[in-house]
Formats: sequence, structure tokens, C-alpha cells
Amino acid sequence: AFPDYREEGLAGFGPSGYVAMPDSKPFFEEYYNTPVHPGDIWVVTLPKCGTTWTQELVWLLQNDCDFEGAKSMLMPDRYHFLEITGVTARSVREKIRDGEDPLSRRIFFDPIESRPRPWFVKTHLPLHMCPPKLLDTAKVVYIVRNPKDVCISYYHHLHLYNEAAADLTLETFVDLFIDGLVTQLPFFPHVLEAWRQRHHPNMLFLFFEDLKKDLRGNIARVAEFLGKTPTDEQLDKLAEHLHFSNLKNNPWVNWEWISKSAWSTGDPNKKFMRKGKTGDWKNHFTPEMDRKMTGWMERELEGTGLSFVLDI
Ligand code: A3P
Repeated sequence: AFPDYREEGLAGFGPSGYVAMPDSKPFFEEYYNTPVHPGDIWVVTLPKCGTTWTQELVWLLQNDCDFEGAKSMLMPDRYHFLEITGVTARSVREKIRDGEDPLSRRIFFDPIESRPRPWFVKTHLPLHMCPPKLLDTAKVVYIVRNPKDVCISYYHHLHLYNEAAADLTLETFVDLFIDGLVTQLPFFPHVLEAWRQRHHPNMLFLFFEDLKKDLRGNIARVAEFLGKTPTDEQLDKLAEHLHFSNLKNNPWVNWEWISKSAWSTGDPNKKFMRKGKTGDWKNHFTPEMDRKMTGWMERELEGTGLSFVLDI
């Protein structure tokens, strides 16, 4: 059965009720005390909001469009994934047997201190669980996506990696999603905390739907934020490289190596790079699910100035 995260001990509840990765609670302090240096770049997101897409975009810009470099290291080797450490790392490592990740240099699990600077960090932690000097020291790129699409994408994601999700119906999942009872939720406190910081000079707040609508324009925005000046030709090349049709087939980015490992549920038809669309929720929600989602969004968004594009 799918775990009931209300039961104390199953997940590491952070302050504000954030449901952290299983077994990660003893490491909260370590995450919070992660050293931060000027020049480091953190991609902070909720899962399924376009994290991987943003990571590739940021890494390529920061490394002056080093496309060769981007095709010589897996994403988890290029970015330190903050929560994949300690106990979490050990349980994941046990599931990835030798030879199952031939592209990896295996720095995935190494301590952050062993990485070259500047550090590229990925985390799903909310900002208040990140180092307190993060925003005043390093650059943070935050991307969010409309919660209806996040919910559908997350539901599929669980079926890719979590055997316990096999019997989980979408109907039940929608309730869990709204109640924030799934790892790396609840949704709105995480998003609104970042949204309140959107004008901080070291924060760039992006929307998945904007990247879908105008990828090249948003690459240029990220470049400006990072203080980079790619040429028109480089911008064209980046937009091409980052288009879903290309990224989904890029083994350095698309997590397909993990689908072959024991970390995944082993269904070859399920892919991390699934549809890459906006509005797919319409193909899945019943009117009742949609009503619940809409009501929840309206309540949470009221007075915040934040709104979402639900279809393009
Ligand atoms: P879907 O499941 O809706 O296809 P994350 O990296 O945060 O886990 O987000 C994964 C989601 O982003 C998946 O959504 C994935 O397909 C989508 N995605 C990744 N790269 C993309 C791209 N270049 N264009 C559009 N969507 C992309």
C-alpha cells in the first residue's frame, strides 16, 4: 500500500510540514549548513516542475554553451542533489548496481565538498530548509508549473520509481497532493515562499509554461540573470538542444539510465521524459478531481498575486 505520510517516522517532516525524502530527517541540519559561495548556482524546485530542464539550461549557460561537456557527464554528476546524501544515498546506491549506469562518473553520491567550484546544486527543499545565507550569497533559479500538470506528472513519476504506487489511483492521489501528503510537498507553501522572494536580485522565478511558450526568450532571461551574453547563434542552438523532442532522447539528461536500474519499477513504457506538455491534466482529471483542484488553487492563491497558466 502507498505509505501514509501522516504516520510519524515514515518521512522526515520539516518545519512547516514539508514531507522530506524518507530517512532524510537526520540530515536536515547538514542541508541547512551546506556551505554557500558567491558563484554557486542552486536550482530550487518542487518535483515535476521542470527541474531537469532548468538544470540543463542553467548548466549550459553558465559553462558558456559547452555542449560537449554537457554530453560527457550525467546530470546528477554535474549537480549535487542535496537530499541524495547520507542514509538516502545509501538506500539509493544499493539499488543501482554496478554496470547499470555506464555513463555515470559516480560523483553523484560524493560529498559536496569533493565537487569542483562553482557548485551546481539541485534541491527540492523549501527555501527555509536551505542555508540561511543562500539568497544573499549565491544565485537561485526557481521554476514552478501549474499544479494540475504537476499532479499528473507526479502521479506518473511515482509509478516509475515507487512500487508501492502500483495500486494508487489518481482519485486518491489528487487528495494526497492537495493535502500535501506526498514526499516533497505541500505545494503552495514551497512555491509561495519562493514567490515572496521573486524580486531578490539573486532569485530568478520562472514558469514552466513560459518556457513552453517562448523557450528562446526565457533562455535569454536566464542568461541575463547569470550575467552571460550568448550570441544569437548560441541562443538558437540552446533552444534547439533544450526542446523536448531533443532533451527526451538525450541520455545525459533524460534519466533513462535510472529506468534500467533497480531504482525504477522496471516498466519500459514509463519514461521520466513523459509528455512535456501543458494541459495534459485535461486528459486525466474527472470533473470532480478538477473541481477539487480548482477550488484548492483559488483558496491558496487568493491575495498572493500569483497565477498559473493551465493550458497553452
Ligand atoms: P511530464 O511528466 O508532464 O512529461 P522534473 O525534472 O522537475 O521532474 O520535471 C519533469 C517534467 O518536465 C516532465 O513532465 C518532463 O517531461 C518535463 N520536461 C523535461 N524536459 C522538458 C522539455 N525540454 N520541454 C518540456 N517539458 C520537459
